[in-house]
Amino acid sequence: MIRELSNPSVCMKNPGKVQDILLSMQKAGSNTLQVISDFDMTLTRFAFNGKRCPTCHNILDNSRLIDDECKLKLKDLLNTYYPIEIDPTRSAEEKLPLMVEWWTQAHELLIQQKIKKDALVLAVQESEAKLREGYQFFFNHLHEHSIPLLIFSAGIGDVLEEVIRHAGVFHSNVNVFSNYMKFDELGVLQEFKGELIHIYNKREGALLNTGHFRELRARPNVLLLGDSLGDLTMADGVQAMENILKIGFLNDKVEDRRQTYMDSYDIVLIQDETLEVPNAIVRFLT
Ligand code: TMP
Ligand code: MG
Repeated sequence: MIRELSNPSVCMKNPGKVQDILLSMQKAGSNTLQVISDFDMTLTRFAFNGKRCPTCHNILDNSRLIDDECKLKLKDLLNTYYPIEIDPTRSAEEKLPLMVEWWTQAHELLIQQKIKKDALVLAVQESEAKLREGYQFFFNHLHEHSIPLLIFSAGIGDVLEEVIRHAGVFHSNVNVFSNYMKFDELGVLQEFKGELIHIYNKREGALLNTGHFRELRARPNVLLLGDSLGDLTMADGVQAMENILKIGFLNDKVEDRRQTYMDSYDIVLIQDETLEVPNAIVRFLT
């Protein structure tokens, strides 16, 4: 039905279920579809030429906006908490308070650096951040077909917006739920706005945004893209959902996590740095 589902990177626990969902969504039509996607390591690449690519936070961590002492502290946090984030032996309940610790400490360090709003553009331009191959088709096609794309990220909204603006794909069908910076009248970072979004409270984040999902209530079919198990709850605010197809990128610790990902996501993409499969699905549904 879709040639790309035979790619070597694709794993499915239940291909028949995937086919049923796809057919049902295709029949309902693209005017009933909405796309909800995580950002870091889902829309952006995990690695390029054997080197890790940055998350939104890493774009700042590696930039000239942060002094050396702070860089070391942020690196220590990453080295402490990232292995916990991807540890398959710990439950989400166990990880949750530790993720809050990570985000809280990282944001406090960033605030101490008195980051200027207008320096973010250059930080993104000078960064190694890369959207996955095929991003132009993904963003442009959804826009051309007026399909809403919600980017739901525990990263930093100001930074991710700049990444997609810089790539020329921040179209009018894109909405972003993320952690946004609040600047003072001189344009200096003061704090982060609203409730913190970390990787394990996207459900709560979704439920806070009922207005968004109410507007999209005529679109009960959801294509969800994520790379973390926390991303599975991003669509919890969708009203009267009819079908959901969940695509998960498994980037790291593949063998330890393969089974859990296959049990949780309908389609698992193993170390696949492209949007080839999501694009093929979007093409099929439009
Ligand atoms: P996402 O929800 O858009 O994927 O963003 C969350 C990612 O950000 C998650 O994989 C961990 C990463 N992260 C950093 O790289 N550095 C940090 O300081 C923090 C708090 C998170
Ligand atoms: Mg992610």
